[in-house]
Amino acid sequence: MKLKPEILAVLENKKVAPGHYRMRLASKRIARAAKPGQFVQITVSENQDPLLPRPFSFLETGNGWFDILYQVVGRGTQILSKLKPGDSLTVLGPLGCGWRMPEKISQRPASEVTHLLVGGGVGIPPLHHWAKELLAKKKVRASNIRVFLGGRGQDFLHCEKEFMRLGVKPAVATDDGSKGHKGFVTKPLEDFLTSASPRGGMQIYTCGPTPMLKAVSRLAEKYSVPCQASVEEPMPCGFGVCLGCAIKVKTPDGGHRFALSCTEGPVFDAARVVW
Ligand SMILES: Cc1cc2nc3c(=O)[nH]c(=O)nc-3n(C[C@H](O)[C@H](O)[C@H](O)COP(=O)(O)OP(=O)(O)OC[C@H]3O[C@@H](n4cnc5c(N)ncnc54)[C@H](O)[C@@H]3O)c2cc1C
Ligand code: FES
Repeated sequence: MKLKPEILAVLENKKVAPGHYRMRLASKRIARAAKPGQFVQITVSENQDPLLPRPFSFLETGNGWFDILYQVVGRGTQILSKLKPGDSLTVLGPLGCGWRMPEKISQRPASEVTHLLVGGGVGIPPLHHWAKELLAKKKVRASNIRVFLGGRGQDFLHCEKEFMRLGVKPAVATDDGSKGHKGFVTKPLEDFLTSASPRGGMQIYTCGPTPMLKAVSRLAEKYSVPCQASVEEPMPCGFGVCLGCAIKVKTPDGGHRFALSCTEGPVFDAARVVW
């Protein structure tokens, strides 16, 4: 299906943590089509400054709307943070391939798998979207979902309350020790992996900064747990034309090739990525 950019109304744009905003955009079509782990490309300015659109994951979708959660890091996100309800934005999506059901990976029904969601910073939103889908559409019990969140401090453990509302209490880690383990989120994850007695297999899904993805992927390999990782490469076009989002992946013959994160990803089998 050929996608066309849509002009969408901003319904809400609220500060949720220092330098972080949750924006609600109106679109029946995108809300219905969006799959967890996919993204939208947002043109933040109509006067071509900045020229390129910016990619954002879905945090949540509802009846005629979808939410993103974003951190202000540069010019594009600064412009976004100033928008008010009633303003509009040009949006393309949903794009890319999101989280995959484990049946395709381990041949087990998703309801028999323990789903480990490991997120850092603004990598957490697509995992929240996935948890909602696992519970609502894939018939996974909340007790079969474990969430591990990492952030700079307690203000940056995004979606912690939202996960609690879903019946899942996240294990948390902060850089400054203001909540949970002081250090990396990989520590509570490894504690769980060492103590777990898998009832029917496990599956890791992870999204966050590249060093975190690399560390989670290493743990997944050490404990032989399949792992999907969502990479955050800059995406100048978002639909396979500019080649600006290529990452190196392993090929079955022991070599490697380049894969476009916007069309083959952003979610990849972590074992295939050349970190
Ligand atoms: C598939 C995908 C989903 C994303 N989802 C979210 C999301 O849900 N919430 C969110 O806050 N951000 C998300 N990002 C990152 C977001 O797109 C960038 O932060 C944004 O484009 C920055 O735009 P800017 O103009 O403000 O900053 P720029 O001026 O473009 O950059 C400012 C600084 O941020 C760095 N930067 C830019 N893009 C990235 C990136 N992709 N990863 C790491 N550093 C980057 C630049 O190197 C620079 O140092 C996602 C990225 C991808 C690829
Ligand atoms: S972002 Fe242009 S090819 Fe992927």
